[in-house]
Amino acid sequence: KRVAVLMGGPSAERDVSLTSGAACAASIRELGHEVIEIDPKLGEAGVVALVQALTPKPDLVFNALHGRWGEDGCVQGLLDLLGVPYTHSGLLASAMAMDKPMAKRLFESAGLQVPGGFVVSCAELAAGDPMARPYVAKPFNEGSSVGVRIVREGDNEPAVDPQAWGFGDRVLIEPFIAGRELTVGVMGDRPLAVTELRPHRGFYDYEAKYTEGRTEHLVPAPVPQSVSDSALEMAAAAHRVLGCRGVSRADFRWNPEEGDAGLYLLEVNTQPGMTPLSLVPEQAQHLGIAFTDLVGWMLEHAAC
Ligand code: DAL
Ligand code: MG
Repeated sequence: KRVAVLMGGPSAERDVSLTSGAACAASIRELGHEVIEIDPKLGEAGVVALVQALTPKPDLVFNALHGRWGEDGCVQGLLDLLGVPYTHSGLLASAMAMDKPMAKRLFESAGLQVPGGFVVSCAELAAGDPMARPYVAKPFNEGSSVGVRIVREGDNEPAVDPQAWGFGDRVLIEPFIAGRELTVGVMGDRPLAVTELRPHRGFYDYEAKYTEGRTEHLVPAPVPQSVSDSALEMAAAAHRVLGCRGVSRADFRWNPEEGDAGLYLLEVNTQPGMTPLSLVPEQAQHLGIAFTDLVGWMLEHAAC
């Protein structure tokens, strides 16, 4: 087959996507397919170039993009218009998952526990704390913790500097959930495993995510069976309620002081990382599914 791999792109997670894309392209070649690598650009010229790169139509697209435009439904919509099957979620699920406040409402409607939270403007946030500390300020539509700030008791810096904040005027504010960071990959209707992330310092931010040795990954997570079972179940339910396709990954915080009731779903990633340090490939490996077989499964589940 001719497989177009979309990688790079214009989002803040461009570098992560280039790494994911290179790893996936290698596997796709290993599976005996022809690969066309495409690095989409923004603007009219960018869209024209993308459509030209997809002409004649490949048999399918492997979407290795992360973040805005590649993970939020934009590229998915274009591929729907062109009638090219693509891996991972479709337009609507991608758009709903990427908009964190929207996803939160859907999770709540399905009875999945999420941290309470609300949206403020940059100006409101700059004017003072919108809720008791510690809280988290997040962009609406970025991944890899880009722009995420934890505001703690005693911090002197403002939560955001409106001049430097490049993520639009809406900021999602959530109470900080003390405790531990868990994540669960989902392959279709199968939750894979629970991984605990233990960054050596600070929180599981961009640097901790992508610098080798900065974060310990524990799979299976050393948490009570009941918590692990709930995380697996919630990840599968979140995938379903958004209408995701292929692989997704749900991120959680668990506060052990609240026991079984302390598990909070933060978000679903519809284009989870596929780098050598990434979590879904690691969980698949744990279950005996090699990286190349995971990529092969993704290709088989491409649709539009
Ligand atoms: N946003 C990054 C790629 C992830 O969720 O893995
Ligand atoms: Mg994310």
